[in-house]
This record gives sequence, C-alpha cells and structure tokens, in this order.
Amino acid sequence: MNLKPETLAKIDEVITHYPVKRSATLPLLHLIQEDLGYIPEEAITWIATKLEIAPINVYEVVTFYPMFRRKPIGRRHIKVCRTLSCALMGGYKTCETFEKEFNTHRGEISPDGEVTIEFVECLASCGTAPVVMIDDDLHEKVDCAKAKQLAEQIKKEAAQRR
Ligand code: FES
Repeated sequence: MNLKPETLAKIDEVITHYPVKRSATLPLLHLIQEDLGYIPEEAITWIATKLEIAPINVYEVVTFYPMFRRKPIGRRHIKVCRTLSCALMGGYKTCETFEKEFNTHRGEISPDGEVTIEFVECLASCGTAPVVMIDDDLHEKVDCAKAKQLAEQIKKEAAQRR
C-alpha cells in the first residue's frame, strides 16, 4: 500500500491520541481514504496489524459506515448534494449534467479516468443550493450552466496535464 509519508506520520501521531489503540480505527480509515481515495483490501490488514486487532474488527467498521469506499475513484471527486434544499433547487439535474459531461454514471470512474461523481448528504450550505464539492472546494448555486462551466474547467486542467 503506497501511502504518502505525511499520511504515515499523521497515522502514527493520531494513534498516540487514544489510550486504547483500537479506538484509532475510524480516524485511520479516514486518513487512508483521504490519501488513496478508497480503502483497499490490504489497508484492512495493515490497520489491524498497526492497531494490534483482528482484521475482522476493521472490516466491520468499513462495512458499517457508508462513507468508506471500497473501489478506487477518478482523479477528481465530484460530490453533489442531494438533501432537501439542494434537491428542490435542482441538485439532481446538476448531477445529470456532470454525468453527461463526463460520459459516466454516479459511482463509476469516467472513461478518461478523470472523475467520479457521487451524491452526498447535506454539505451545510443549504442557503446557496444546489451545492457541489469538487475535491476539497465547495461550489455554490451550481445550476446546469455552472455545472457545465465547472466540467469544462476540469477538462481543461486535465488536458494541460497531458
Ligand atoms: S441541503 Fe445541500 S447543502 Fe444542505
């Protein structure tokens, strides 16, 4: 498993915050997902060894919480809020626009490997619905036209990288 040195350092530090090592299971999973984009199988045994617990104890946590992904995602992660305010203000249409722009479906990696689009619950910016997070950046009032603009921007950045 190829974790960044900063992630490994954070992991070692986080473990020291807990009197019982196993209590660090959840934060370790978050750190690994933040780094790799998902929780690979080997992360489960790696965490278990690190925290001196059985792999099943880590597995139970991963499968209990829906926020942990078991499959890789695209280079960019587009999260569209689908909770009430955003849904009423067109969040579903926004999501469809992204899907069309990248020729993909929610939860999949787009054919160019560039994005994964997902629905998420309230992003705590209901007054500026519909709201979208792209990686760590929040975008407000993302109607279909703005979704197209954001998609164009992502495509432009991808082309510059190639
Ligand atoms: S409902 Fe979408 S940000 Fe709260």
